[in-house]
Order: sequence, then structure tokens, then C-alpha cells
Amino acid sequence: TRVVVLFGGRSGEHGISVATAGGVLGAIDRTRYEVVPVGITQKGQWVIAADEPERWAITDGRAPQVPESAGEVVLPLTVGVSTLRVLEPGQVPSALADVDVVLPLLHGPYGEDGTLQGLLELADVRYVGSGVLASAVGMDKQFMKLVLAGQGLPIGEYTVIRPGDWDRRRADVLRAVEALGLPVFVKPARAGSSLGVTRVDSLDDLPAAVEEARRHDPKVMVEAGVEGREIECSVLGGRGGARARASLPGEIRVTDESKHGVYDYEAKYFDESKAELTCPADLPDHLVKEVQEVAVRTFEAVDAEGLARVDVFVTPDERVVVNEINTMPGFTRFSMYPRMWEASGVSYPELIDELVQLALE
Ligand code: DAL
Ligand code: MG
Repeated sequence: TRVVVLFGGRSGEHGISVATAGGVLGAIDRTRYEVVPVGITQKGQWVIAADEPERWAITDGRAPQVPESAGEVVLPLTVGVSTLRVLEPGQVPSALADVDVVLPLLHGPYGEDGTLQGLLELADVRYVGSGVLASAVGMDKQFMKLVLAGQGLPIGEYTVIRPGDWDRRRADVLRAVEALGLPVFVKPARAGSSLGVTRVDSLDDLPAAVEEARRHDPKVMVEAGVEGREIECSVLGGRGGARARASLPGEIRVTDESKHGVYDYEAKYFDESKAELTCPADLPDHLVKEVQEVAVRTFEAVDAEGLARVDVFVTPDERVVVNEINTMPGFTRFSMYPRMWEASGVSYPELIDELVQLALE
């Protein structure tokens, strides 16, 4: 079986995607799969990448990158100037020809948001994970919340700031934010890995936080802070039409005081001392069941496929509130998604195998 491991990409999470690929390249069963590593550079060029897991790891506090000019360009898609060839019916881009399945290990826009999934659908190539709609819904926090709330899932309060609102109706925005109560979390609507996220404890700090979020996305979410423990749960699609399964939950505790409880980009990937990850989380059985049920319902609510990590809060009065779903969660050997499966009896190589097999079904 020929598997294209696709990674990198044009989003701010480029380096995290490369690190994820490093993990997968090191663990995928080479006796079963012929692996073709394809990197997407930050400018959007697709290149045949080195099959060297160590090279793609996070080292010395630096995220790895797909070098801009390395390797053979396999699909000439570049930002701005699209030189996508017109293909004959049934013809697929060269890198995707004779490929059984693509493992799109991309995080963020242009990878996790349905755009790449659409390209693969058009090319008639199988791929691991969610399809166009679920990916798009999972990436856009506004529509994610609408879909989850529409299906009765518990979510926190929020308001959306569109570019016009901020520039022309600022008084209304301030009123809406004030109504949420402080603190609030200001985030780009479409991004990941906490890029552009700021905790705001005073309305005076709101403009700077909005500007920071707008560096990543013109649409900004302001979410009410939810008091509670940060719990995550891994979901894996069911084979043969079976219902998706949930792992044992894990817990994140931000230990560094200076972070004010925010599990930010640095704490996530570059400094393990800033947060404590516990797998499985120390939760009573009834809450484990509740978190798992909410995670699977969230997965189903957006029509996710293959895999997703659902992040929730468990409040002091034992309510489970959904924070978000990630349709392509961080997937290095040390990431929460595989760790929670490991704690539930599914090893990292088994998990990769299971995901590829699911896509081939
Ligand atoms: N967006 C990052 C990769 C995650 O959710 O794990
Ligand atoms: Mg996310």
C-alpha cells in the first residue's frame, strides 16, 4: 500500500505539522506501507521530502521547516500565482498518481480546513481523516460553535468580531464583550496551537488582543472564560460503520504562573516545564464516561471521520463544556492525541495503522 505522508503547509502551524510528520515517519509500519513523504513549503510548493524522521523533529526550541527549494516540485501550486495544470479527465497530479492513500498531517488553514480535502476529493484520492465539511467546521470556531450548539452540545458563551464591527461599531463590540464577563479569551476564528490567543482581564487590554488575533485572521472570536479543569479526549472513527470510539481522557495543567493558566504555543511545544500533561486524567468514572460521550457526540455533530481530539472543560459543579474539536490534532509520539490512546491500550504504530486502514475502507 502506497501512502503519501503530506506535511508542512502554508499555515502558522507549519512547523508543528512537520514535527507531527517526523513522528509518523518514524513509526509507520514499513513492512506494510510504502511511504512517500511530501512536504508543502511555507510558500505552498509541494516537494518530495527527505524520509528522515529525526530531521523533522523540534530541536533546540526551534520548529522544523520544509526548505523552500528542496527536492522535486511535485504539484506546482504556489501562493498567488497558481500554475495548476489542467488535467485530462481521470488524470491526477503526479505526486498523487498511483497513491493508495494520503495522510494529510497538516494543521491549520490550507490543510486542516477542508481546502486540501477538496483538492483530494477532486483528484479522487483517498485520505485519512475528516472530509471537506467537517474539516471546515472544525477550523472555524464560529461555525463550530453554531453546529455544536445546534445539536445540543454544551459550549461556552462568545461573541464574534468581524472586521466591520471592530472598525465601525466598536461601542457595540465593547458592550458584547463586557456582557460576557472577564476574563475573556480573544482568538483568531481560524487558527490553531493557540497562535494569536490572548487572555484579557481588563477591557483596556482588548484592542491589543484583537489586533494580535487579527494578525492571523480578520475574524476574531471572544470567548468567555470557563472555570474548570482542561480535559481532552481522543476520538477514533469506527470501522465498518461502527460508532466512533473515545480514549481515556487526559488533563492539561498549566504550572507556570506567568502564563495565567493559558496553555500557549510555547508551553505546548517548546517548554515542557510550563505545563503538566496527565494521561489518563484523574477523574471519577462517571465523569470519564460523560467526557467520552460528549467527545463522541461532538465528533458526530460535525460529521468528523477518522480522528479528532475534543477539548473540554470540566467545571467545579461537574458540567462538561466543549471548548473545541481539532480534526487533525498534533500527532507526534508525545502529543496528547496518541498519548491518550496509548493510555487506552492502542500504541502509536497501531494507531497510524488503524487510521490508514480506516481511510482505505
Ligand atoms: N492545532 C494543534 C496541532 C492541535 O490541536 O493539536
Ligand atoms: Mg484547534
